[in-house]
Amino acid sequence: MENRREELIRAALAARGFAYAPYSGFRVGAALLTKEGRIFTGCNVENASYGAANCAERTAFFKAVSERERRFDAIAIAGGKGEMPEDYAYPCGICRQVMQEFCEADFIILTVKNEQDYKEYSLKELLPHGFGGDRLK
Ligand code: THU
Repeated sequence: MENRREELIRAALAARGFAYAPYSGFRVGAALLTKEGRIFTGCNVENASYGAANCAERTAFFKAVSERERRFDAIAIAGGKGEMPEDYAYPCGICRQVMQEFCEADFIILTVKNEQDYKEYSLKELLPHGFGGDRLK
């Protein structure tokens, strides 16, 4: 993870460019780093039937897991309505639960405004006392 932060942040911002968000206008990009060093990107994909929307983070996780990756170090997330995110975008509860399934407590979550301005958390901080994941395996 060390020395991959910048790359991960840039990948999340780039993936945000592919967001399909005609209903909310809230465009999100994510970049997920595997323990082997591969990066999987994702964006939110909305639908006229609103509940069918998929978040950027889960797009990235499902792309990775469907290509046999199950071990992850970190994810960068950038979201907002403007040309660039005006605030930090935090993962929704469902996405935190998906992280819980595949990640350890020290999994890193970067919430990104731009390449210079981001915050860093662990999964344990954003989902304390989470259910499942390693504890049930
Ligand atoms: N969204 C994400 O992609 N990730 C999050 O963590 C929060 C919400 C998307 C879903 C929807 O397309 C739009 O943002 C507004 O909720």
